[in-house]
Amino acid sequence: VHGVPPSLSAKVVGSFAYLTVRDRLPTILTKVIDTIHRNKHKFFEEYGEEGIEAEKQTISLLSKLRNELQTDKPILAVTDGLQDTESWNQYLQRHQRLQGDEASVSWFKSPWLYVECYMYRRIQEALWHNPPISDYDYFNEGKTQGFFESQQAVMTLCTYLENINKSMAELSKNQLLEHFNKLLQVSLWGNKCDLSISAGQDNSQKLSPIDSLSSLQPFILVDGSNMVWSTLQRPGQPGKTTAGRVDVVLDNAGFELVTDLVFADFLVSSGLVREVHFHGKSFPWFVSDVTAKDFQWTIRQTMAANHKWMSKSGVQWQSYLKEGVWSYHDHPFWTQPHEFCDMAADAPDLYATLQGADLVLFKGDLNYRKLTGDREWDHTVSFGTALRGFGPAPLCALRTLKANVQVGLQQGQGEKLTSQESDWMTSGKYAVIQFYSPKSE
Ligand code: F6P
Ligand code: MG
Repeated sequence: VHGVPPSLSAKVVGSFAYLTVRDRLPTILTKVIDTIHRNKHKFFEEYGEEGIEAEKQTISLLSKLRNELQTDKPILAVTDGLQDTESWNQYLQRHQRLQGDEASVSWFKSPWLYVECYMYRRIQEALWHNPPISDYDYFNEGKTQGFFESQQAVMTLCTYLENINKSMAELSKNQLLEHFNKLLQVSLWGNKCDLSISAGQDNSQKLSPIDSLSSLQPFILVDGSNMVWSTLQRPGQPGKTTAGRVDVVLDNAGFELVTDLVFADFLVSSGLVREVHFHGKSFPWFVSDVTAKDFQWTIRQTMAANHKWMSKSGVQWQSYLKEGVWSYHDHPFWTQPHEFCDMAADAPDLYATLQGADLVLFKGDLNYRKLTGDREWDHTVSFGTALRGFGPAPLCALRTLKANVQVGLQQGQGEKLTSQESDWMTSGKYAVIQFYSPKSE
C-alpha cells in the first residue's frame, strides 16, 4: 500500500520549486507591474482620473504582493468577494488547520502548486479592487506576440491539415492512424511553447512542426497513443456506434492552442469524434494560458490571415463553434489550486460534465501537476495510483516536462535519465503521452 508522498515545495532549498518561488514568480510579478504601467496611456487614461487612480492602486497592491512573496509572509485570505473567494479561503483554512498555525502557511513553506496558483489569483484580486481596469489582461501582449511569431509554423500546419482533409475519403485506416499520431504529437510538442517557464520570455514556434517530429520521438518517455486511438475506435458504452465526444483541457494560447485546434479539426473531419468541448481559464493564468478572449481572438486571427489554408481553417473552426460541434467552456475549478482528485468533491458539476466525455485530453505541465497532486512520487508508481481516484472518463495527459514530478516510468528509467541530465524533468525537452482508463482498473 502506498502512502501519499509530500507535495513539492519551496521549503526544499535549491529545488526547482524553490527557484521558481524565489526567482521566477517575482520576475513574473514585476513584468505584470511594468505592463500595467506601460499601458497606462493606451488603456486606462480613457477612464479619466478614475482610470489613473486605479492604475496607481493596482500597482501598489501588486508591489505589496511581491513583497509578501519575497519575505515569505503568511498566505492571506482573498478579499474581493468574487464567485470563488469563499473556496480559496476555505482551502487556506484547511491548510492552516493541518499546519496547526497560520504563520506556517507561507510562500516558501507551503505546497508549490498552491502558492503558485495563489499568486495568479492575488494578481486578479488587485485588479478587481480597481473596477475600471478589472478586465485588463496583463498577459495579453505576450500571448498575441507568441501567436504572431509562430505564423510560419501555423501556416505549415494549416496547409498540412488541408491536404489531409482534401484526401480524407481516400485514406486507408493506416494512413489515418499515421496522421492521427502526427497531429497528436504536434499538439504534444506545442506545449513547449509556454510563457511561464521562461518567465515571459518566449513562446513561439519557429521550426516546421511536422518535420521536427521524428527527431523529437526519442524524447517521448511514455507513449500511450495507441490506447488513445483505440479509445476513439470504441467510444462510450458497448453497443454505442456513433463517434463520441472529446474534451480538451487547454493549456497555453499562441502556437500550442493552434496545434490543439488543428488536432480537434482532424478528429472531427475524420469522423473519429462527433463533438469537442474545450475548457479554458476564467482569468489570466500562468502567463500564457487560454481564456475565452484568447480563444475567440485566435480563431478570428486565423480566419483573417492572408494565407489561403490558414484562413480556410479559421472559417471552418468558426462554423464548428456556430454549429455546436465545438464549444468553449470555463469553470472556476481550473483556476483553483486543487489536485484533480479533489474535483469530485469540490467541483461535482465539473466532474459530472467530464464524465460525459469519451476521452479527456489534459494539455500541459500544470494539468499534469494537478493530475498527480504535484507530489514526490517514485517514478515507477503507476499513473492510476498517482491519480488517486480521479477518473471521470478515459484520459490522456499530453505534457512536456517542466516540474519535478513524473510517474509511470519503467524500473530504472528515471535513474538513467537523472545520471545523464540532472534537469530532465524541468527542461521541457522530454514529454509524455500518458493514458489512463478508469475501466481498466
Ligand atoms: O515552473 C515552470 C512552470 O511555471 C510550472 O510552474 C508550470 O507547471 C509550468 O511552467 C507551466 O507549464 P504549462 O503551460 O505547460 O502548464
Ligand atoms: Mg500554461
